[in-house]
Amino acid sequence: MTNLFDISGKVAIVTGGANGLGRMITEGLVTAGARVYFTSRKEADCRATEAELAGSGDFRGIAADLSTPEGVVAFARTYLESEDKLDILINNAGRTWGAPIESFPDKAWTQVMAVNVQAPFTLVRELLPALRKAASAENPARVINIGSIAGAAAEKLSAYSYASSKAAIHHLSKVLAADLAADNITVNALVPGYFPTSMTSHIRAEDEKLTGLLERVPLGRMGTAADMVGTCIFLSSRAGAYVTGVNLSVDGGMLGCR
Ligand SMILES: NC(=O)c1ccc[n+]([C@@H]2O[C@H](COP(=O)([O-])OP(=O)(O)OC[C@H]3O[C@@H](n4cnc5c(N)ncnc54)[C@H](OP(=O)(O)O)[C@@H]3O)[C@@H](O)[C@H]2O)c1
Repeated sequence: MTNLFDISGKVAIVTGGANGLGRMITEGLVTAGARVYFTSRKEADCRATEAELAGSGDFRGIAADLSTPEGVVAFARTYLESEDKLDILINNAGRTWGAPIESFPDKAWTQVMAVNVQAPFTLVRELLPALRKAASAENPARVINIGSIAGAAAEKLSAYSYASSKAAIHHLSKVLAADLAADNITVNALVPGYFPTSMTSHIRAEDEKLTGLLERVPLGRMGTAADMVGTCIFLSSRAGAYVTGVNLSVDGGMLGCR
């Protein structure tokens, strides 16, 4: 019972791992001793993150656009040139689109669903042999999909396709968990509340909006890197090996305390 949260030596992928929440997760897993492959659409962001993490562990940035199935497949192939197994897949990359209902464009559906739902599915499909190879009954391979409170409650964000995509990834996580349990692969969704990234900059930019938000958070603050990394490490380690098909809220009580 001494190494329940040990993930050292595991191999992980964090999509969108150069910026925002993904960057927090990348750094957390690297510091905990995992070998982490992270993606960004921008080569420069891959290199910048590598430079910032230099000396802290084992990692590599791979430039990848996950908005098309071809881009997802290309990234999976690049990964498989270096590794034949995968212990932890964190589908974090995501995009949002906010607009008034009257002018909400059709393309905001296809583009958001492609990155937030289809890409995680395609990546699981393409990396299934590597996940299976890493998996055992005592130490399953782990898939963690980053969902959102917006997919579990009606947040007033005018982000219609985003909220729907996050509800979809919550449910897809359960469907995949049921399918892949026999392969010793766990699949869970982490459901963040509000964290300080570019996705929430429009809220944090206005005192009134921020105060209004914090009044709705039972624990009274936004999430931090430690909150996100801690739950990822839990789900990736021995401690979380018996947890699958769960939508785990990391939101200061916004969903759980209702
Ligand atoms: N911040 C919050 O409060 C919050 C709350 C609930 C859920 N979330 C979820 O957390 C995840 C990370 O969001 P964030 O808050 O960190 O926002 P963010 O700073 O805007 O980051 C979005 C991430 O997704 C990646 N990405 C976007 N489109 C992509 C594409 N076509 N191909 C590959 N990667 C793409 C970005 O990569 P590059 O820009 O580097 O290419 C970036 O790393 C998302 O799934 C989001 O829905 C966030």
